[in-house]
Amino acid sequence: MRTAGPAENGALWWRSAVIYQVYIRSFADGDGDGVGDVPGLRSRLPYLAGLGIDALWINPWYPSPMKDAGYDVSDFRAIEPLFGTLTDAEEMIAGAHDLGMRVLLDIVPNHLSDQHRWFQAALAAEPGSPERARFIFRDGRGPDGSTPPNDWMSNFGGVAWTRVTEADGALGQWYLHLFTPEQPDVDWTNPEVREEFNETMRFWFALGVDGFRIDVAHGLAKAEGLPDVGSIIWPPVGAEVVDHPHWDRDEVHDIYRSWRSLADTYEDPRVFVAEAWVHHPERLSQYVRPDELHTAFNFDFLLAPWEAEPMRESIVVALAAHETVGAPATWVLSNHDTVREVSRYARPQGVRPLRKLTDLAGLPADFAVGRRRARAAALLMLALPGGAYVYQGEELGLAEVEDLPEDVLQDPGWEQSGRTERGRDGCRVPIPWSGEAPPFGFSPEDANAPPWLPQPAAWRELTVEAQAGDEHSMLELYRRALHLRRTQPALGDGTLRWLHMPEGALAFARDPGFACIVNLSGDPVSAPAGARLLITSGPLTGDGRVPRDTAVWIAT
Ligand code: NOJ
Repeated sequence: MRTAGPAENGALWWRSAVIYQVYIRSFADGDGDGVGDVPGLRSRLPYLAGLGIDALWINPWYPSPMKDAGYDVSDFRAIEPLFGTLTDAEEMIAGAHDLGMRVLLDIVPNHLSDQHRWFQAALAAEPGSPERARFIFRDGRGPDGSTPPNDWMSNFGGVAWTRVTEADGALGQWYLHLFTPEQPDVDWTNPEVREEFNETMRFWFALGVDGFRIDVAHGLAKAEGLPDVGSIIWPPVGAEVVDHPHWDRDEVHDIYRSWRSLADTYEDPRVFVAEAWVHHPERLSQYVRPDELHTAFNFDFLLAPWEAEPMRESIVVALAAHETVGAPATWVLSNHDTVREVSRYARPQGVRPLRKLTDLAGLPADFAVGRRRARAAALLMLALPGGAYVYQGEELGLAEVEDLPEDVLQDPGWEQSGRTERGRDGCRVPIPWSGEAPPFGFSPEDANAPPWLPQPAAWRELTVEAQAGDEHSMLELYRRALHLRRTQPALGDGTLRWLHMPEGALAFARDPGFACIVNLSGDPVSAPAGARLLITSGPLTGDGRVPRDTAVWIAT
């Protein structure tokens, strides 16, 4: 039996959970090789429990050649030796449960590693064979088949097809990879693929895992005949539903209905969260219909500029769309694929969506403003109805490391884009725990290798040790807010009521007796008369009003 945690909320715990994202290779290094691992994570579980989160989501920890930081999985039912052993994993899961935290893993169903036994067998087999039928192999176009089967592009740049050499040495078929060439897409119309993933889920559920974050949940179904995509860009800015040949196709829902039935066979039901980059909240809500997935990341909130109207609009639209299907919304400010929010909010807002490092190019930065806004955004996020995600280091106020030397960059996007996209390494730098110099407690004292990405010297002020107990620190803001969230019956799942505010500010009430005011860009605003301040993200004006870039929670 699982130990009931402080946030235990029966079978519906996921409707209001705060889930902490552990990017395993950068969280804590137990064995001193400069790479985070499972024993390192286990040793830091008390820190996470103390923070006040309900569950962890761990990025892929399976054996992998690491061509895409573990999203190229070569064996779904084992642990990458760099990260530890299956026994380490079992102990970590049990340790998290003992501390009242659930554990979600990452499942990567769109593609495998090219080193996976299935793909190796496909390469050795004939065109048209059952081994090839697990993937998307096609003949090329043109008289000699030297033109890719269609015009699809890889997400990391370049053509989404690679041509193989057949057993007789001749150039042969092409296979599809929506990401790197080392990540061949599998064919979800093949029942063998479905059964393989069911088996993988059963394996981890049997070890006590509470659910999965589904990688590229919107990519599994491909249009019959694999038609050219033509000029359809993705996501289509401001467009309505588009019949895209490989993103967000209706056929994916059949897969998730079957996954839900599998999860519901467990006495303590297992849960899913979809990573689905779709172009409208209504499309997102399709993934969380009652017989499909439980939740989905709400990336529109992450992408909304720090401006009152677009921010409010993103919240209103997300809540309305989720309400139509009875699912809770989730709120997310950053993850391992996007620029950290301190750095996004440090830039002028609303000029263009800020997601990737290249989106920041040429925009001036004010990091003091970025930090103030990130603090206010944390209170906003944690006050909204539904669940929330905290990406490791967000609670420390880490900024994107924008100046990593080119020779340390490891994101495949860097090479695949012809070195035009520096990629996502800047939000993946190992966490600073303690001390005055790198590795800042990330690795043990006697480590034999530096952290896999260099940490900025300035992080000495942002270590957990430096921030703990400092009431003005980001860490203490998160701790206080997360603990308050547990004691305020109004927070978590539920609804909100918008309150009138002057231009530039937002405010909403939640019953019983709670309100959140966020001033994004207006003149200082007053809290309703008689309200009691629960927490503020920054100093108020001398007469107690909420200045710009500041949020407060009040008891009404
Ligand atoms: C989304 C993951 O979050 C990202 O890190 C990865 O590169 C792609 N999916 C491909 O698996």
